[in-house]
Amino acid sequence: MAEFGVEQIISSERDYTFICGDSLEMLQRIPDETINCVVTSPPYWSLREYDVAKDSNVIGNEPDYNDYVKNLTVLFDEVRRILTKDGSLWLNLGDKYYNKELLGMPWRVALSLMDKGWILRNDVIWDQMKGTQSSKDRLRDVYEHIFHFVKSKKYYYAHDEIRIAPTKKPKVYNGEVLSATGVSGKKYRQQIEKSQFLSEEEKAAANLALDEILQKITDGKLVDFRMTIRGEQRAFHSDNTNVSGRAKELETRGFYFIKMGANGHLPSDIWRIAPEDTWRKDAHYAVFPEELLVNPIKATCPDNGIVLDPFSGTGSTVVAALKLNRRGIGIDLSEYYTNLAKQRIKQISRPLF
Ligand SMILES: C[S@@+](CC[C@H](N)C(=O)[O-])C[C@H]1O[C@@H](n2cnc3c(N)ncnc32)[C@H](O)[C@@H]1O
Repeated sequence: MAEFGVEQIISSERDYTFICGDSLEMLQRIPDETINCVVTSPPYWSLREYDVAKDSNVIGNEPDYNDYVKNLTVLFDEVRRILTKDGSLWLNLGDKYYNKELLGMPWRVALSLMDKGWILRNDVIWDQMKGTQSSKDRLRDVYEHIFHFVKSKKYYYAHDEIRIAPTKKPKVYNGEVLSATGVSGKKYRQQIEKSQFLSEEEKAAANLALDEILQKITDGKLVDFRMTIRGEQRAFHSDNTNVSGRAKELETRGFYFIKMGANGHLPSDIWRIAPEDTWRKDAHYAVFPEELLVNPIKATCPDNGIVLDPFSGTGSTVVAALKLNRRGIGIDLSEYYTNLAKQRIKQISRPLF
């Protein structure tokens, strides 16, 4: 694979390469367990025409959608082989109406991959905030899926890299510390004192625990909290101690806390990101917005690790990887897009190895 630069990427002599060719064929030449993270958006079934020769092996042009699912399953088998044991695959897919029927294509592919051993960790809904209405007898469709798959249950996930910092902070009012949403703990203190559902021992333990929480708010380690006390509030999801750990805690200890740490929370599985519009010269073309690539790469590819996109198009994944100080490999069947990606990459400034 020397002519493609993959070996140089693996040995850190280079930071990126673009390979023009059929992705299955090219992936077969990459050594086992060398790639940390794959982020990709294959062509959707029967949806778009790409700038490649008519007789070439374009994914998405299969007359039967079952063959599309089969072809992608075979391709992602190869992706699984080249991923490190703790690696991740982020797979963006959109659905398709055919004969007036929504096909459920993303899930057909996802279930097929799961049958082959992939572990599905998240189904991210990418809300593209699209404004167009193509049909008057159904709702507007505005989302696509981004599936996060892993190879093994223990995988690389740098959750601290993608936390969203709290927008509000605790404050001091009249000499009293208030949490980010104004909780002082006074109400809980009164509920503990008056409780007929807590023993004296449990009351003492609850007061002590509340003191500790308030101290953490004062020290800036927590920004907010809520206390649930037996007989006063209900357990968060269910009162059934067989299914809810919280309900169990309430039963055995008499209280529990929900805490919001100062280092923020993880993003949800709904992402509102407008589609990229700076590449609209070709109206059929679906380019990844850079914002969409940041969290997958930061969370599941270590610094200086390798990100690969087997359908790299204009090279968005590789561009994002380099900007985030990772290495990148892009594969695409189209010479036109591969050349576009090569030009695009020259325009970014990045740390050089
Ligand atoms: C949805 S586009 C990817 C867009 C890309 N995420 C970007 O940001 O530019 C899918 C790409 O898959 C390529 N493609 C189709 N069949 C392929 C195959 N068998 N091997 C490699 N690339 C293929 C197309 O040329 C197209 O560029």
